[in-house]
Amino acid sequence: MSSRTATALAHPNIAFIKYWGNRDDDLRLPANGSISMNLEGLETRTCVDFNDSLSADELRINGENPDRSATERVRRMLNEVRQLAGIQLFARVESRTNFPLGAGIASSASGFAALALAASRAAGLDLNEASLSCLARHGSGSACRSIPGGFVEWKVGTGDTDSIAVSIASPGHWDLGDCIVVLSSAPKATGSSMGNQLAGTSPLQAARVADAPRRLAFCREAILRRNFGTFASVVEEDSNLMHAVMMTSRPPLFYWLPGTLGIIQAVQAARSQGLPACYTVDAGPNVHVLCERTAVEQPVKLLEGLPGVREVRLARAGGPARLLEDSSTAEHAS
Ligand code: DP6
Repeated sequence: MSSRTATALAHPNIAFIKYWGNRDDDLRLPANGSISMNLEGLETRTCVDFNDSLSADELRINGENPDRSATERVRRMLNEVRQLAGIQLFARVESRTNFPLGAGIASSASGFAALALAASRAAGLDLNEASLSCLARHGSGSACRSIPGGFVEWKVGTGDTDSIAVSIASPGHWDLGDCIVVLSSAPKATGSSMGNQLAGTSPLQAARVADAPRRLAFCREAILRRNFGTFASVVEEDSNLMHAVMMTSRPPLFYWLPGTLGIIQAVQAARSQGLPACYTVDAGPNVHVLCERTAVEQPVKLLEGLPGVREVRLARAGGPARLLEDSSTAEHAS
């Protein structure tokens, strides 16, 4: 038997300036650039073993066989890696997340970032950060932002090879906390991939995209200067714009629950009284409340008592995707 294995770890990320809509759905070339922060403490670990004893790819996520569409997405990435490496071996993929899937944290981001790194290394490739980011993007757009560390910008780019993510500041640059307010962990009716394909049906998407360079510049600058006031206003504006597009797509997508608006209003009220906190909402009902870590206890206390809140999880800025110690690129023969 001959086998080549590698194990990688990646964090999910929360977008401050959102990716929503593609100019090329197949390659996941985004309509606009985006900015995010990796989430330390939340992680996916993926082991890939290309093994000549296998007659098909085998995939387990948290010990279970995933559904057909997830399996197909993973197989597509494995095929791309096999083609790049010039190998034909099937792979056994074992992936585990330490956070509940569906808790309002994009597991596809950490999942495809960890898979891109583990699969490419197991296949004997040594891809640089840009190529890894590009490969991860093919699996899930937001996954390209989980390859570099800390605060990350995904450049809109001109084509496949330069629409990649780069770090704009290290995790230690700014001590921001993300209080993830979980209202529901039920699977969403319309997943991000379908939602991304519907974005262009909203008459508001063109205006959102046209204004994106301004929001990106404000957000980048606010992060670099650690200016929470500017950061809060552009992050909330960007989240509201994305949800306006979602709600006006054809068919319309309503990801919020009543409790979502309750939290948004509570955060706005708390900020008007001096609490450095702001909200952002992804493609689901759960709310990410961002705050400077010196003040993190206050929003957690405030949020836990609000109607509909099941859980508040706390994360801070995290590092890049990385190979784990026990991962080996060597070929094992037995
Ligand atoms: C709302 O990256 O999950 O979280 O490319 O189809 O996997 P696919 O979509 P995905 O979309 C993420 C959308 C978002 C905003 C963001 O993370 O930028």
